[in-house]
Amino acid sequence: MSPILEYRDVSKVFFKGKTQVHALSHVTAEVGDGELLAIVGPSGCGKSTLLNLTAGLMQPGTGEVCYRGRPVDGVNTHVSYVTQKDNLLPWRTVAENVALPLGLGGRRMSKAERAERVAHYVRMVGLEGFEEHYPSELSGGMRKRAQLARSLVYEPDVLLMDEPFGALDAQLKLVLQAELLRTWEGTGKTLVFVTHDLTEAISLADRVIVMSARPGRIRAVEHIDLPRPRDVFGIRFAPGFGDYFDRLWSALRADLHQGQEI
Ligand SMILES: Nc1ncnc2c1ncn2[C@@H]1O[C@H](COP(=O)(O)OP(=O)(O)OP(=O)(O)O)[C@@H](O)[C@H]1O
Ligand SMILES: [Mg+2]
Repeated sequence: MSPILEYRDVSKVFFKGKTQVHALSHVTAEVGDGELLAIVGPSGCGKSTLLNLTAGLMQPGTGEVCYRGRPVDGVNTHVSYVTQKDNLLPWRTVAENVALPLGLGGRRMSKAERAERVAHYVRMVGLEGFEEHYPSELSGGMRKRAQLARSLVYEPDVLLMDEPFGALDAQLKLVLQAELLRTWEGTGKTLVFVTHDLTEAISLADRVIVMSARPGRIRAVEHIDLPRPRDVFGIRFAPGFGDYFDRLWSALRADLHQGQEI
């Protein structure tokens, strides 16, 4: 797999008055075209920062983030980003929110094409019948689905997701993970997602990167060679799953003594 994303010795320091926060330190990694990569690590270790850099929302202090070999030096329009915070526009309906990215970047698309594309992705995430609802009229899980549809509608080469299912109940989480896998396995697109849930990381990903406590460095990388298509409901009982879990957990545990939570 040729890399679609490259992080070359990336460091990032935030300044707030006289205090400095070293968010990332010398991160070097590649993401293959079509790969599904999970990033796990203690709270505050720079995971969202890494996604923000990938989306071009901020620049690294030192080092480079490259998309298909070129440094990302502005908003990266090839990626779509489901941010940690819900950012649906409250005054727009589901259909209008989902259609939003299609109006950006000067894309020429007829009204009919647009409507068809929106309907397709609304259906894909199971929100049919809720097109005219406003975000405040949706449940938490439905809002996540709407965000997912809005990210997919753009048909990006890379989808970034920051703890997409973090706040959801266990059952809904499994259902949405299954939907995500079904969607992703059909497209061959690249997916990079952050999670605090090791089971989720192993169930979905081709590879899991474990980051250290701040300043975030890459502590371990685990290739998940479980066969696809995967069944998120049963995969935790698959041979090898427990070994992956143990190895990832030991890598994460290394930072627990520093009082960091995962
Ligand atoms: N825009 C910013 N300005 C100043 N400091 C920031 C900014 N963004 C992040 N930070 C700091 O950088 C560090 C890493 O933040 P980041 O959001 O990347 O962590 P994270 O790994 O995503 O954590 P969590 O798991 O809690 O979401 C934190 O200490 C945070 O306070
Ligand atoms: Mg975060």
